[in-house]
Amino acid sequence: MTSIRPRRLRATPAIRAAVRETRLHRRELVLPLFVREGLDEPQPIGSMPGVVQHSLDSLRRVLAEAAAAGIGGVMLFGVPEGKDARGSGGDDPDGILNVATRVAVAEVGEELLVQTDLCLDEFTDHGHCGVLDERGVVDNDATLERYRAMALAQAEAGSAMLGLSGMMDGQVAAVRDALDSAGHTATALLAYSAKYASAFYGPFREAVDSSLQGDRLTYQLDPANAREGVREGTINVAEGADVVMVKPAGSYLDVLRTLADTVPVPVWAYQVSGEYAMLEAAAAQGWIDRRRAVLESLTAIRRAGAESVLTYYALEAAAWLE
Ligand code: PBG
Repeated sequence: MTSIRPRRLRATPAIRAAVRETRLHRRELVLPLFVREGLDEPQPIGSMPGVVQHSLDSLRRVLAEAAAAGIGGVMLFGVPEGKDARGSGGDDPDGILNVATRVAVAEVGEELLVQTDLCLDEFTDHGHCGVLDERGVVDNDATLERYRAMALAQAEAGSAMLGLSGMMDGQVAAVRDALDSAGHTATALLAYSAKYASAFYGPFREAVDSSLQGDRLTYQLDPANAREGVREGTINVAEGADVVMVKPAGSYLDVLRTLADTVPVPVWAYQVSGEYAMLEAAAAQGWIDRRRAVLESLTAIRRAGAESVLTYYALEAAAWLE
């Protein structure tokens, strides 16, 4: 007769709860929000059922809901009416993202960590995360100048944490220097360090009306490379990142675990649009139990080492975790 019986710890809800290693908490969830210039009514996003492009009014409403739900924060993305080659809308104080940031800080700045996406792709007519040189290649160092300007505009609008998602070399150091030189020493930096060139961003491109032709393979990471993602995280911490992130989350749990074991700062993960779309599509067919699958996916991301998770499920999951 066997004497080693691991099933003992699974026998009742009470003992399972007593030995559970990972517990989700609503404070560890961050809600990404899309705000589109010129909208009167929120606009549904076809490939992300339940997610919308917000007007400024509907933004105010969802911010109030987010504060009441007790989640950790929001990550704002802007969808401008006009775009140009240098992404001028990004550092224009009257650009939609900076306007939305001021609204968010005024409405819920005390209760929620208001964060902003710092990248040019929503604002450029070519859809790339940086400016292009005469050959049409993303010019790393010219882009850093644009990021510096965007960082100042976002900090001045009141963003508490800037999410650097452009994958340019030296972006964390450049933005830190720009902020510190202007006295914004308290503005925190979240570096999307291990950001992979992923097919799972597909629905996001619809969400932000992306103009991208081609791909981002010369700046985002090759999905085959784990070590390179960990290296980026290490470099970003050395440059002054306060938090580093892995993105997407679900297909990169190994990178997340290694990074969490390697760097001395918080590590977050982004459950991206395609991960959301897959769960929604399967649940809509009745092929998976939606709530269980969502909570399982978030638990797995936490278990792999993420301290917070950016997820389109933040509000719903917070309610389930009550
Ligand atoms: C770039 C950015 C992207 C996402 C967040 N920030 C898209 C990209 O790099 O193509 C994707 C988020 C998602 O898919 O949910 N500003």
